[in-house]
Amino acid sequence: MAQLPNAYGYFSDDGREYVITCPDTPMPWVNVISNGDYGLVISQAGSGYSWRTHASLNRLTRWEQDLIRDEWGKYLYLRDTSNGEFWSPTRQPCGETLEQYRVRHGMGYTVIEGQRGSLASQVTYFVPLDAPCEIWLLRLENLGDQFRHLQVFTYLEWLLGAAPDWHREFHRTFIETQFNSEHGALLATKVLWELPVESKTHWNRSWPYVAFLGASEAPVGFDADKRDFLGRHGTLSRPQTVVTGRCSNRAGRWGDAIGSLSLELDLAPGEAREIAFTLGAADDLDQALSLVKKYKDIVVVHTALQAVREHWQALTCTLTVETPDPALNLLANGWLGYQAISGRLYGRTAYYQTGGAYGFRDQLQDSLVWLLLGYPEKTLEQIRLHAAHQFQDGIVLHWWHPLAETGLRSDYSDDLLWLPFVTLHYLYETADFTCLEQEIPFYDGGSASLREHCLRAFEVALRRRSPRGLPLILKGDWNDGLNAVGAEGRGESVWMAHFLHYLLRAWASLPGENEDTVVRFRRAADALREAVNRHAWDGAWYWRASTDAGSLVGSRQSREGQIFLNAQTWAILSGTADSQRARQAMASAREHLYSPYGPLLLAPAYTQSDPEIGYLSRYAPGTRENGGVYCHAACWAVLAERRLNGVQAAYDLWRSFCPPVRAADADHYAGEPYVMPGNVAGPQAAIPGQAGWTWYTGSAAWYLRALIEGVLGVEAHLEGLQVHAALPDGWDRYRLQRRFRGALYDITVRRAAPGESPGCWVDDRPWLGEYLPLYAADTIRVEIVV
Ligand code: GLC
Repeated sequence: MAQLPNAYGYFSDDGREYVITCPDTPMPWVNVISNGDYGLVISQAGSGYSWRTHASLNRLTRWEQDLIRDEWGKYLYLRDTSNGEFWSPTRQPCGETLEQYRVRHGMGYTVIEGQRGSLASQVTYFVPLDAPCEIWLLRLENLGDQFRHLQVFTYLEWLLGAAPDWHREFHRTFIETQFNSEHGALLATKVLWELPVESKTHWNRSWPYVAFLGASEAPVGFDADKRDFLGRHGTLSRPQTVVTGRCSNRAGRWGDAIGSLSLELDLAPGEAREIAFTLGAADDLDQALSLVKKYKDIVVVHTALQAVREHWQALTCTLTVETPDPALNLLANGWLGYQAISGRLYGRTAYYQTGGAYGFRDQLQDSLVWLLLGYPEKTLEQIRLHAAHQFQDGIVLHWWHPLAETGLRSDYSDDLLWLPFVTLHYLYETADFTCLEQEIPFYDGGSASLREHCLRAFEVALRRRSPRGLPLILKGDWNDGLNAVGAEGRGESVWMAHFLHYLLRAWASLPGENEDTVVRFRRAADALREAVNRHAWDGAWYWRASTDAGSLVGSRQSREGQIFLNAQTWAILSGTADSQRARQAMASAREHLYSPYGPLLLAPAYTQSDPEIGYLSRYAPGTRENGGVYCHAACWAVLAERRLNGVQAAYDLWRSFCPPVRAADADHYAGEPYVMPGNVAGPQAAIPGQAGWTWYTGSAAWYLRALIEGVLGVEAHLEGLQVHAALPDGWDRYRLQRRFRGALYDITVRRAAPGESPGCWVDDRPWLGEYLPLYAADTIRVEIVV
């Protein structure tokens, strides 16, 4: 049964696949598939790119960021030798050549199916769990009564290094291709790799991998040069090799390196055959050839695919949600977890931002997803990785490149504070205080305990305050786009005041924390609370920042950008606002910022570039941080609503920017229904309500959290799980199964039947505690009647 169908597709019956039935989606609807090292992005048209470890510094194949034409990728062609007819088993590059086109994006794989006359094709793309490669499993079936003789061609352009290779004529001269006839594989190497490292290896370093393209059956020919394949002035939709059916069988240097293998096969009436192609970047020639060899065996390929399915099932099915809202269930039971892990923690790349680096605050926040999924040790791994990118003086890298291990020392005021933030949440989830004593190196040498890493971050943040006690914003805070506000070191951030207040109080409440620290942190928190309320209250809301010159951002006095969401929501989340101000601040947010498709980050949007504000004001009005719905921040509004106004308010807001709900009008919304966008255009944009930057950081992990905590009311605390049991209108019950401290909590919240009294039962015994009990059991059954 199709779930939540729209004009282009639907969620499969079990919700684990999104099925696209019409490939002319308003924007590319992609899948980001990765095993944590190797990965690929594939669109519904079959376009996309591949990488290893870093999607920008170590791209295998060429791709251009043209989301409108979406015509760069790694492709297959099929050719019927009896009449020379050819087509592609995906929408690109040959266009509309297939009937019954269907794309199934699943967790860890994508399948593209179609039919041309009586020949059915299906290509399954996936990345094995433990190898630096991808596999395209092509299945062809002859549904007719004629014998078919077919040729199959692959096509991809080798990039092999930093993307884009904007000076292709320079780069191509360093690439060498070779056909290994024993293994029937094309190999490609490159003796230049531009890595951003400050050493004399600039333009004097080889790409250390061996790229390979193999097939499960022996190729009958190959092309390794783009002009050989396309022909003079040829096009991808009509390449010479495919038109003529003849390969050049030429490889070497001086070409414009591509990978095209040609295979032939016969299909009797009713017969089906499978061919697997393997593409990857191996550490050396031996590994390349052994991977080619390994995946020649179709049984091995199927086993690897099955392992991928089971892997994602295991990772995302530990959390299950059953509510009367199908959109909520679909996102909670897999898709949000998948997006956060595959897209953000593993790949860190997608069509709108190809990235590949680690953002200090970004991947820490994304890694919160592991807590909800019951894998807290993976959050700790992420914490350790980020702590190792902190300098001894407490400052961290704003982002860094894996492979090059270089990055940008952060001038953003908040970056370093996400380390204690995520550590605190790890502690709430696990109560594993031993983590604080784990020794972790600093980026510039030496090492210290995780506790010390966090304390050094606090010390820096506490030092960076203005004469009147508000945190300095420096080159920006969570909002990267406010990069000019305090560049000279005088501007202040009100959001930072709320955030730091929250963290200081939370840290000071940790059992076993040093007495002096506790006293100092409490005092500092009180001082921040006092300062923010004395100086930053604008009458009906908190202003957002002050500039180096002393003017206000996010104030009634501001010409544009008069009210900012984060300065209000975090006043509630951190407890800096008293209840009257909390109500007033959120009422103002509602009045000025809430739109039918989500809460805007600020309003009104900047229409003039303002050099005192930064690049935020340079975005078109209503886009991204400039007055769009910024989903990451919108999630905080859901959590604040829950605190202040209860479940209905939180749920309504959560649903207002829920992708499968918005994508009911897919042409308008444009983004994928199965993943979060980074932003949705605001009222001043050309197309208000249109999604952008899908698969983006921050959005999925926080949206899941906003759902579990904000809507379902289930929170992890040191003392245990707490359920703020309440149901939105129209719900008679919900069920949540969530792992916590070794047990599966199977929680049902339901409305009392007439005459029944409310209460909480744990394993059938009444329970009056504020937190759910902790005890050794596989499953702890909780029933709450409201
Ligand atoms: C982007 C950045 C993130 C930042 C946000 C708001 O998502 O990656 O670090 O917090 O924009 O500016």
